[in-house]
Amino acid sequence: MPNEYEKKIVLITGASRGIGKSIAKKLNSSGYYVIGTSRNIEAIPKDDKISGVRYLPLDLTINESIDKLIRDVGNIDVLINNAGVSQVGPIEEVPMEKIREIFESNLFGLIHLTQGLLPHMRTKKEGLIINITSMASRSPVPFSTFYAVTKAGVEAFSKGLQNEVERFGIKTVVIAPFEINTAIPQEILLKDDSPYYNITMKAKNIRDKNLANAPDPSIVGKLVLKILKSKNPKFFYPVGKNGFIKSFIITHASRKFIKKQTMKRFS
Ligand SMILES: NC(=O)c1ccc[n+]([C@@H]2O[C@H](COP(=O)([O-])OP(=O)(O)OC[C@H]3O[C@@H](n4cnc5c(N)ncnc54)[C@H](OP(=O)(O)O)[C@@H]3O)[C@@H](O)[C@H]2O)c1
Repeated sequence: MPNEYEKKIVLITGASRGIGKSIAKKLNSSGYYVIGTSRNIEAIPKDDKISGVRYLPLDLTINESIDKLIRDVGNIDVLINNAGVSQVGPIEEVPMEKIREIFESNLFGLIHLTQGLLPHMRTKKEGLIINITSMASRSPVPFSTFYAVTKAGVEAFSKGLQNEVERFGIKTVVIAPFEINTAIPQEILLKDDSPYYNITMKAKNIRDKNLANAPDPSIVGKLVLKILKSKNPKFFYPVGKNGFIKSFIITHASRKFIKKQTMKRFS
């Protein structure tokens, strides 16, 4: 465990609950100095607040909020871009403003925050950026396509980032969870008389059941600690039940096979 003077400063977006909270808990108890964000710090239930973690406000859909956080934290060692939201709805019906909204939270806000924190890491010639994507980025869950598109964007962004900043001592890592047991809200964007209504709701209910039976978010906390302790972390870490093998299949099997399995699983 690092002593007081060696404490690495870690910023975790979306640390009020779920995966972000688990990462914050693990790193805080392992001796890191953790800053966690929430859109509304006052609304975090007392039991969910981790003693020792410094909470700061951040809304990734608001430029001023991101700029303020960048000014307030400035010099950090590790950035964990975890915050994100999900949506359920058929491609044909999700309104454009809702598509823009999920891009703001999951992709554009993440890019903005990363841009603002890079100069300090570059000057120090040291830093680690961990972006939480989803295996949905490589195999979208039916009727949750725009979520998958934002996560695929984060993966491509992470590859580009690695190309550009590794030379300055900044490491980039992607963690792609499969289903993890959290209460991630899924906004339903579906017309009442939609021809997609039944199939969308069926897929959503199957996904909800899978999430309820999925591993606890603490597995992500443990993985992040392992990455932070590693001298040469890999670029890509799948995580979840049988995460490695499922990721291998999704990456290497034919599109025809994956599509058949996906349709079987969600209908
Ligand atoms: N759970 C899964 O099965 C799963 C699978 C694959 C990937 N992931 C990814 O893992 C990450 C964490 O998900 P989770 O399951 O832990 O979800 P969660 O329990 O809903 O937590 C999401 C966090 O993001 C924050 N957040 C939401 N919208 C925000 C915004 N506009 N600006 C800033 N912060 C915002 C929330 O904080 P406040 O509400 O307090 O602001 C909350 O702390 C997400 O990126 C998600 O896409 C999850």
